[in-house]
Amino acid sequence: MSASVAPIPLTSAPCGPLSGVAETPGDKSISHRALILGAMALGETRITGLLEGEDVVDTARAMRAFGAEVIDNGSGDWTVRGVGVGGFAEPEQVIDCGNSGTGVRLIMGAMATSPIAATFTGDASLNSRPMARVTDPLALFGCQTFGRAGGRLPMTLLGAQDPLPVRYTVPMPSAQVKSAVLLAGLNAPGQTVVIEREATRDHTERMLLAFGAEIAVEDNDEGRVITLTGQPELRPQTIAVPRDPSSAAFPVCAALIVPGSDVLVPGIGLNPTRAGLFDTLREMGADLTYENMRNEGGEPVADLRARFSPDMKGIVVPPERAASMIDEYPILSVVAANAQGQTMMAGVAELRVKESDRIDAMAVGLRACGVTVEEGEDWFAVEGNGAGSVAGAGVCASHLDHRIAMSFLVLGMAAKQAVSVDDGGPIATSFPSFETLMAGLGATIRRGDC
Ligand code: S3P
Repeated sequence: MSASVAPIPLTSAPCGPLSGVAETPGDKSISHRALILGAMALGETRITGLLEGEDVVDTARAMRAFGAEVIDNGSGDWTVRGVGVGGFAEPEQVIDCGNSGTGVRLIMGAMATSPIAATFTGDASLNSRPMARVTDPLALFGCQTFGRAGGRLPMTLLGAQDPLPVRYTVPMPSAQVKSAVLLAGLNAPGQTVVIEREATRDHTERMLLAFGAEIAVEDNDEGRVITLTGQPELRPQTIAVPRDPSSAAFPVCAALIVPGSDVLVPGIGLNPTRAGLFDTLREMGADLTYENMRNEGGEPVADLRARFSPDMKGIVVPPERAASMIDEYPILSVVAANAQGQTMMAGVAELRVKESDRIDAMAVGLRACGVTVEEGEDWFAVEGNGAGSVAGAGVCASHLDHRIAMSFLVLGMAAKQAVSVDDGGPIATSFPSFETLMAGLGATIRRGDC
């Protein structure tokens, strides 16, 4: 929820070796989808391992507002009694999606082909993010939208009375846009076709298939062509949510840069559309191994073991890998500052429209800690001077962005002097246990600035 709360400054001091087992939280992308598809199925879906971060809790509350029964059984175990495709009720109140772009965009898609109205809002970060990328394709189904200038929230959607199926090429690499169109297609008659030029995370396609939707994926000259047959009866599922690679990235990267560290991060989802960071780290020379590879609930999973890696080298991260690690560039730039030489991250324009402008937020904060960073509209490059070379002593702005806050706290663990963030509050959106988990491994994070 986006009630304004006092900022929580946090300071991370240089620490000794990190060691132990890091039990990181459930996958945020999969958690949102499990709740939304559970609400659109007819009957009882059981979910274990759900991420209970603020973003996902906001989506659970929204699904209740649309008429589903959503029950928290404790310890990540949830039940959703869904209303079926086309069964959404009109919410009585404004839907507050807090900080979550994924939540609001997927829910807009899910309601866009039902003849109901809903008004969406969020926090200052979400209300400044572009929504036209979703509302433009939803208009093709017959959905009307009334928002602030520039397609910003708060915004009211009036779902289509007589939805038409759509054929849509997603103009930017965005799983949120792709998923919004697919979820809208569920309640449109006939076939909805979504084409993406670059593959993005495919959790929606995998989960739609599991819920019994007719969905086909073909790679051809146009790109990845996804064809969904509308108005299926979705069958309720039992879903075990794997742990989030985007959250695992923080203890993994911390272990790579803090001298003497050896950390095991078990049960991490390694869907190839998400695992680009780990390939990149290994190319840089990280001592990062996959143990106990297995398949859980249709997603590849492994235990990750990360050890201090003093000889990492800067590399050029291939732009075509960007979609598979889009949320991991902030923490990669922290590792890059501790590697030897330049790390060039190109083809990352989407970073400018995340919870914050992540290129700018990282460049400014890294410079405040003594790191040389160059940037352009869709790229940034970090000059690394090797393990332990970062001066630190910066107070970095987190801009209501959980991943920016966690990245700078990891930077402080391996710097010469402590690093502060002005507000660690947003960490609760995706990784509520971050402070305690990192402290359990040996990190020193305290409230207040340096
Ligand atoms: C997400 C897609 C990505 C990612 C976000 C989660 C999803 O955003 O950055 O954190 O769950 O579909 P885009 O779709 O805007 O690329």
